Amino acid sequence: MSLLVRNSSQVVTPIGRAARRGQALAELEVLEGAVVRCDHGRISFVGEEAEHGRRFDEPEVVLDAEGGCVIPGFVDPHTHPVAAGAREAELNRRLGGETYMEIARSGGGINATVRATRAATFDQLLQGALRRLDTFLLHGTTSIEAKSGYGLDLETEVRMLEVIREADRRHPIDLFPTCLAAHEVPPEHRDDPERFIGLVNDEIHPEIARRGLAEAVDVFCEQGVFDLDQTRRLLAGSDGRGWRIHLHADELTPLGGTELAVELGALSADHLVYVTEAGIDALAGSDTVAVLLPGTSFFLRSSFAPARRMVERGCVVALATDCNPGSSPTESMPMILALACLSMGLTVAEALVAATLNAAAAVGRADELGSLEPGKRGDLVVLDAPSFHHLVYHFGVNPVRHVVKDGRLVVRDRLLCPA
Ligand code: NIG
Ligand code: FE
Repeated sequence: MSLLVRNSSQVVTPIGRAARRGQALAELEVLEGAVVRCDHGRISFVGEEAEHGRRFDEPEVVLDAEGGCVIPGFVDPHTHPVAAGAREAELNRRLGGETYMEIARSGGGINATVRATRAATFDQLLQGALRRLDTFLLHGTTSIEAKSGYGLDLETEVRMLEVIREADRRHPIDLFPTCLAAHEVPPEHRDDPERFIGLVNDEIHPEIARRGLAEAVDVFCEQGVFDLDQTRRLLAGSDGRGWRIHLHADELTPLGGTELAVELGALSADHLVYVTEAGIDALAGSDTVAVLLPGTSFFLRSSFAPARRMVERGCVVALATDCNPGSSPTESMPMILALACLSMGLTVAEALVAATLNAAAAVGRADELGSLEPGKRGDLVVLDAPSFHHLVYHFGVNPVRHVVKDGRLVVRDRLLCPA
C-alpha cells in the first residue's frame, strides 16, 4: 500500500532520531511545496515532487493537501484515556474556590473516578476509550502513552490495561501502556497507606508484569499521596520487570520528585509546575524528558511549569495533554500547543518539536516516531492552514484536516474514515 501527499504549502518536521534540547529545540526543516510518500506503513520519501516522479511508481492513493501544511502526527506522552464517568461538578466547586486537593480529600478527585471505573464493565470502559481515541485522532494525535490508575485494586487495574491493549488492537492510534496502580490511596486503605503500598508491590505490579500488560510504571509522587520514600519503594522493582519509569512529579508542591526521577533514570518526569532549581539542573544533566502539561495548569488555574527556563538550561522538554476526567479533560494537542506558547512562552517551532520528536523520546520511540523522514512510521497530519504557525495563531479551533496513520488515510476532511 502506497500513499502520496502532494500539493502542500510546506512540509514541516524536526529531523533526527533523538530528542532535541536548548537552541536545537526550535530547529525545524521547512520544505516549501514538498510531497511525502509512504510505502507499507513507513515514510519512504520527503522532498520535491519532480524527484519523487523520477524515483517512484505511481502511488495507489494520492491525497491532495490543497495548500495545507503537513506536519508529523502528534505523539501524546501522558494520558489517562480509560475512565468511567465525568467530574464536571468539580469544575464548579473549583470555580467556587475549593482546591483540587480539598475536593480529593472530601470524596471527589481520583477516587471518584475510581468508584465509577470499578463499577464499569470491560465493554463500557472500552467504548469510552475508543470514543476518546477518535477525538485524539481527529485532533492529529497518532500515538499516545496510556495509563491505568483508576482501579487501585488488582482486578480493575488489570481490566483497565486489558482495555488499553484491546483499544490498541482496534483503533488506528498506537497506545503505549503504563501501570499507574499507585495513582492514589484507595478508600479501603486510607487508614493504612503502607498496606496499600505492600499490595501494589507484592501483588498488583508482579501480576501485571506477569501478564505483560504494561511497558512502563508511574506513581503520583505528591504531598498527601505518595512521598519520596514511598515512591522510591514503589519503583524499586521496575528494572527487574523491564519497565521504564514515568513519574508524576512536583505537580502541586515542590517535593523533589523530579530529582528522584532523574536519579532512577526515568524516561520522563511529568508536570513539574513546582520543579526547583536543583530539579532543573538534574534534568539538564540527564536524558529524562520533562513532560509539561499546560492543559492541567490551565484547567486547575494553577501556575505553569517554568518551560522557558527549562529550555534555556538544556532540559529535554516535551508536551502532553494529561487527558483525564479531573485535571485536564481534553484530547487536543493543538490546544496544548497554544497554551505552551501563550502561557509558558515557548515559540511555535519549539512547541511543535516538543509535541512530536521530543514527545516520541518521552515514550522511548524517537527512532521511529515524531518526524517525517524515510524509515519512520507513516504518521502525518495535513492542516487546514498554510503554515504551522496557524496551529497556535488560529487558537481554540481544530486546525486538523486530514490524518494519515501508518501510511493509511484515517481522517479525511475532518471525518473519521471507516476502518
Ligand atoms: O495527572 N495528578 C495526578 N493524576 C492526574 C489527575 C487525575 C484525576 O484528577 O483524575 C493528573 O493531573
Ligand atoms: Fe497525569
